[in-house]
Amino acid sequence: MPSAPMLSLKDVTVRYGLREALSGISFEVGEGELVTLIGTNGAGKTTCLKAISGLLKPSAGRIEFRGARADGLAPHALVGLGMAHVPEGRLLFPDMTVLDHLELGAMRAAADAKPYDERLEWCFSLFPRLKERRGQKGGTLSGGEQQMVAIARGLMSSPRLLMLDEPSLGLAPVVVDLLADVIAQLHKGGLTVLLVEQRVDLALKLADHGCVLETGRIILRDRAAALLENPMVKQAYLGA
Ligand SMILES: Nc1ncnc2c1ncn2[C@@H]1O[C@H](COP(=O)(O)OP(=O)(O)O)[C@@H](O)[C@H]1O
Ligand SMILES: [Mg+2]
Repeated sequence: MPSAPMLSLKDVTVRYGLREALSGISFEVGEGELVTLIGTNGAGKTTCLKAISGLLKPSAGRIEFRGARADGLAPHALVGLGMAHVPEGRLLFPDMTVLDHLELGAMRAAADAKPYDERLEWCFSLFPRLKERRGQKGGTLSGGEQQMVAIARGLMSSPRLLMLDEPSLGLAPVVVDLLADVIAQLHKGGLTVLLVEQRVDLALKLADHGCVLETGRIILRDRAAALLENPMVKQAYLGA
């Protein structure tokens, strides 16, 4: 029997002024699943993550998270319920240290979260580099290290659902591999993940399911393994 969805979107529409960026999209992310949202630039992937995490308010439709209505809740309230959004572009504070960022991430942690020190050690075990760099300011880190901080900041809130927006963007292949390993490890550990990633091949290899988003509509949903073999996906997103 499929587990109850951790997250569900039903006919969600999001507008920027008069412009409709998402036009009635529906999908679910099951508990423990890794789902990837695929689509070209401007398809609406970031808009979708922002709507889920409360940064944008849908003009129609319904979002449920862990069995309760989530659209209309403030971002910090959703963090407290177990939702972490690692934004596109990382958005670190250049003058704050790695540790400062991780403390910030921990501020809205769920009431049942493990103690702060345990979460910190968990993040350092996933990203040993951050332990070495913990006193260093955000602005002085490499792109890969900044992405590690952004993910670890999200993990410090002890999330049930981790949403990642383009984690590999602009990073060297060796760092991309490292991040992919960590995402796979988090998924294996039972964390539910919604991944937006321009490296579609990589995303589909990590994911259980995928949704293909085109100009604000989901045009295809399938198991990731099936999408990897889908001729349309191959042609449009895998350069085959
Ligand atoms: N702040 C904004 N104001 C107006 N239009 C926006 C804004 N952000 C995104 N859009 C538009 O919404 C659409 C979806 O954008 P986005 O969600 O960023 O796509 P993706 O992340 O898939 O590249 C695009 O057409 C984009 O131009
Ligand atoms: Mg985007």
